[in-house]
Amino acid sequence: MEFHYVTDSPLASDADLLVVCTYGDPAKDGLVRLLDQSLDGHLLQRARAEEFAGKPGQVLYTDRSNGTGGARAIAVVGAGEMNGFDAGKLRDVAAAAIRVARRAGARQVIIALPPVGPRQADRAVQLAVEGALLGSYRFVKYRSEEAKKPDPIATVKLTTERGKGGGKKGKGPAPRAMKAAIERAERVAEAVCLARDLINEPAAYATPVRLAEEAKSLAKKHGLGVKIYTPAECEKMGMGMFLAVGQGSDQESRLIHLTYTPSKKAKRKVAIIGKGVTFDSGGYSLKPSQSMEDMKTDMSGAAAVIASVAAVAQLGSPYEVHAIAACCENLVSGRAYKLGDVLRAMDGTTVEINNTDAEGRLTLGDALTYARQKVKPDEMFDFATLTGACVVALGPHTAGVMSDHEALVQAWLAAARDAGEDMWRLPLQPKLKEQLKSGVADMRNTGERFGGAITAGLFLKHFARDTPWVHIDLAGPSSTPREVGAWTRGGTGFAVATMVEYLTR
Ligand code: BES
Ligand code: MN
Ligand code: ZN
Repeated sequence: MEFHYVTDSPLASDADLLVVCTYGDPAKDGLVRLLDQSLDGHLLQRARAEEFAGKPGQVLYTDRSNGTGGARAIAVVGAGEMNGFDAGKLRDVAAAAIRVARRAGARQVIIALPPVGPRQADRAVQLAVEGALLGSYRFVKYRSEEAKKPDPIATVKLTTERGKGGGKKGKGPAPRAMKAAIERAERVAEAVCLARDLINEPAAYATPVRLAEEAKSLAKKHGLGVKIYTPAECEKMGMGMFLAVGQGSDQESRLIHLTYTPSKKAKRKVAIIGKGVTFDSGGYSLKPSQSMEDMKTDMSGAAAVIASVAAVAQLGSPYEVHAIAACCENLVSGRAYKLGDVLRAMDGTTVEINNTDAEGRLTLGDALTYARQKVKPDEMFDFATLTGACVVALGPHTAGVMSDHEALVQAWLAAARDAGEDMWRLPLQPKLKEQLKSGVADMRNTGERFGGAITAGLFLKHFARDTPWVHIDLAGPSSTPREVGAWTRGGTGFAVATMVEYLTR
């Protein structure tokens, strides 16, 4: 799929399909009205008949051409009411537009973006290209040949022109900025799709060793530093929590560390750390079958940090970026860790296990210590499908964000807003620390039912210590059972867009 930004009027386009993205009531949209005139009132008549109100995902399609020289078919796609610039909505509406085009079998498509004003046109174009690429993502590796047929869409033209005129030199946004926006979007989408691919792979394929292989090949391709640690090497570093989780599996654990070093002196060192549980059975605190069904996605954090550092290598960053993924499989066997076991963490903390299904915090606790001691970052972020409680609190589309570092968490949330990913802060309520007290060790790994996302966050905070740190629980948005906006069924690649935004802007 090729993208071009154009300043011609969409009315004059000879594409197979013109998609008009509209906010709310189509009768108030100037471009829809112009098209309606050229179709003798047919378009708005249809809109009324089909109760098309420009709501998100709503589509009005007509294959009646608007007469001489116009596109062969027209679709109006709803973007919903917009209060200010909404990055997520722009990405989603472009995904909806591209799906209409695919269903219509169009090869040449022109998309008239919602009117955002010239100052934000390049950002809108970036998000639209991301939406088009992400909305047409499919995981077809295990499908029959039929399903692997390529998309019919060859070229997509994007315009922010909404009227008859347009194309006036010097008035529109700079073509160079648009080209950069398109390229940036292509890199972001590529990274998100890579994360999705890794998440969608069955656990039998995406083992810790396989993820390490993927990391190595990405390092080679993009010139990243890479270090992979075997269990014996992790043992030497004292990573007792991380190793305990994987010890019940025949799949060997791997700690992955990728490094991006900027050509100029780095402004700061940033560590991005991902939970990489390639399958979470719960261990002896076994999950019921239904809760286990999707647990191949429990390495979404690892997939996100690995994919993000690959994008950072291509786009460039003023920061030295360290992506660390603690990869292992949580299974039951004669070697598995048990309830009542006392583990020794890399930082010396002893931890009593009262639930083997709270394994993510164990792997991440040691990964945070590894980052602190070996990388000594100025700031660190962890990404984890950590708790069902976070999904209960915020719903399936929103990540929980926890941090005691005010400036860092605000900077992160601002990046999430710019990248159009939904993240919401939860408090690290210190009173709940009581719940992690143990009778035999320094700590235990789980608290009580209520506040489960927060006690998990507090457990991690113990290992983050004084390093500025933000925890992102993405148990909800990391995968989806159905299409939602630019998300397709399965892994979403959530947090990649925000990481790239944060690290490269
Ligand atoms: N991987 C799960 C969390 C999860 C739940 C991710 C649903 C995606 C969707 C995690 O390892 C887990 O099992 N957490 C437990 C913690 C509990 C034992 C304190 C949970 O949420 O039930
Ligand atoms: Mn678990
Ligand atoms: Zn888990």
